[in-house]
Amino acid sequence: MQLVFATNNSNKLEEVRHRLPQYQIQSMQDIGCFDDIAETGSTFEVNARIKALYLQSRFGCDCFADDSGLEIEALNGAPGVYSARYAGKHNDAEANIAKVLKNMDGKTMRKAKFVTVICLLKEGKEVYFRGEIHGTITSTKKGEKGFGYDPIFLPDGYSTTFAEMTIDDKSKVSHRAIAIEKMTKWLEA
Ligand code: IMP
Repeated sequence: MQLVFATNNSNKLEEVRHRLPQYQIQSMQDIGCFDDIAETGSTFEVNARIKALYLQSRFGCDCFADDSGLEIEALNGAPGVYSARYAGKHNDAEANIAKVLKNMDGKTMRKAKFVTVICLLKEGKEVYFRGEIHGTITSTKKGEKGFGYDPIFLPDGYSTTFAEMTIDDKSKVSHRAIAIEKMTKWLEA
């Protein structure tokens, strides 16, 4: 059984392959797709669907795509779908974090959540899986591990930020793990 995952991110691929050993999970690179698919939607669902549909229509394969981001209550859900480029440049984590901390300066309400939505296109079906993890935005960066906003996200029930956790520990509780788990259950059912 083959499924194409609309990513070339090795961490994401490893996590999904680990959880779905009965599937041959191929990356975009594996099927010869080197295109940069523009994420022009205003929701995680729409962006995930854009990427999955692109692969399905060009390569005729069963596939899935994910889209993730950080939603901060006091910033009306920002950075949300714009998480990767909140400060302008794509994936500039330092600048993105600096912008969040500046916008959150002096705010006492610091609730936030990470969200992942997966869109799966398989045998004519279109199915969505959402994973969320709630927490708070710290006032300074803590930890060196992980990526993106990990150093300023303190998950509820923990005393360490995502960037202070091992990858193993983070991937047991993360928004991405929850969405992948839901998709795994659906595929196995
Ligand atoms: P993507 O859709 O999974 O590529 O995520 C988009 C952006 O959201 C990333 O570039 C990060 O800025 C942020 N993000 C998503 N997931 C995480 C996470 O687990 N930790 C920290 N930042 C994340």
